[in-house]
Amino acid sequence: RFTMRFSQPALQQKQQHDINRQRRRNLQVSVVGASGGIGQALSLLLKMNPLIETLVLHDVANTKGVAADLSHICTSPTVKSYTGEKELKKALKGSDIVVVPAGRPRRPGMDRKDLLESNANVAIAVAMAVSSVCPSAFLAIITNPVNTIVPIVRDILKSQDSYDPKRLFGITTLDVVRAKTFLGQSLCIDPQRINIPVIGGHSGITILPLFSQSNPPFKGDESEKKELIERVQEGGSEVVKAKAGSGSATLSMAFAGAQFVGSLIKGIKNEEDKPIVECAFVESNVTPLEFFASPVILGPSGIKDIPCLPELDQLESQMLQGLLPVLLKDIEQGVKYANNFI
Ligand code: NAI
Repeated sequence: RFTMRFSQPALQQKQQHDINRQRRRNLQVSVVGASGGIGQALSLLLKMNPLIETLVLHDVANTKGVAADLSHICTSPTVKSYTGEKELKKALKGSDIVVVPAGRPRRPGMDRKDLLESNANVAIAVAMAVSSVCPSAFLAIITNPVNTIVPIVRDILKSQDSYDPKRLFGITTLDVVRAKTFLGQSLCIDPQRINIPVIGGHSGITILPLFSQSNPPFKGDESEKKELIERVQEGGSEVVKAKAGSGSATLSMAFAGAQFVGSLIKGIKNEEDKPIVECAFVESNVTPLEFFASPVILGPSGIKDIPCLPELDQLESQMLQGLLPVLLKDIEQGVKYANNFI
């Protein structure tokens, strides 16, 4: 209704004005949990993104040192640092994107669910601070368990009247990165040339890479496909096991996080000719569940569109039916947790 008030040339002028404003805008990206295993590597990669003007680092410890170190790198983003819960709001003020790798990682024998008690409070504190000082920022959650933390954050933002479903993301890019890598090895081609959607959630069987949709196409038989799916689903545990007690995936997650944030920025800048598409765990109606990871199209205001799911093959359809009740439980756990808090 709003746009109807403009005549066609005036509307075009206004749209062009909005686009120019987005292009000129000096972007501030804030990393909460910046001194951690993911946080440091992610901040390094973001420091190399020329579209970021200010890179803000926040953590409860060691932020100053990480910021001093990064600030000597001869790239354009200016680095600022804030330490401790008391400085969180100061850190986030003015942010366009807040990315959150704060909280405990898994140790061998742990499931992502075991992290809920320790990590939910970190996510809640971030959601409260975002509501208060940068309610229109994009909020991208890395903290596990993503399947449960994202619904908690949604409900906290809602309770503060600052929820916009187009701006809240659970980052599942690492599952896509792993699917590309393992398929690239199977096809003996550069994994960067591969496109493959990964849907569902971000833990165990809720992760469903769609090899039927890959480009170039997957060439193996059903048992090879099953093996690859399981390797993607267990990719996180493969790293936790190999690190033998010192944590979970950090470097590959930092790569995935930087790619995701890079795509959010490209969406804000709105300069690409082709659509910007990333898989992410978001509020969605592509399935009966409230949240689901699938390819989303990004633009200046966040999510522009969430396409319907493609036609799955028999194995994928079966796996989808198997994952829905598990993911539903994870989401419900988050809603319950938030209810107790609000
Ligand atoms: P880490 O322990 O190395 O780093 C976590 C950082 O968060 C620490 O520097 C800590 O001081 C900081 N932190 C804790 N509470 C905080 C608070 N209230 N405010 C600000 N900072 C706070 O852990 P790592 O390996 O970097 O993992 C971080 C999280 O990312 C974990 O929950 C892990 O499970 C998750 N993860 C998610 C993945 C995904 O695909 N979404 C993949 C890999 C890990």
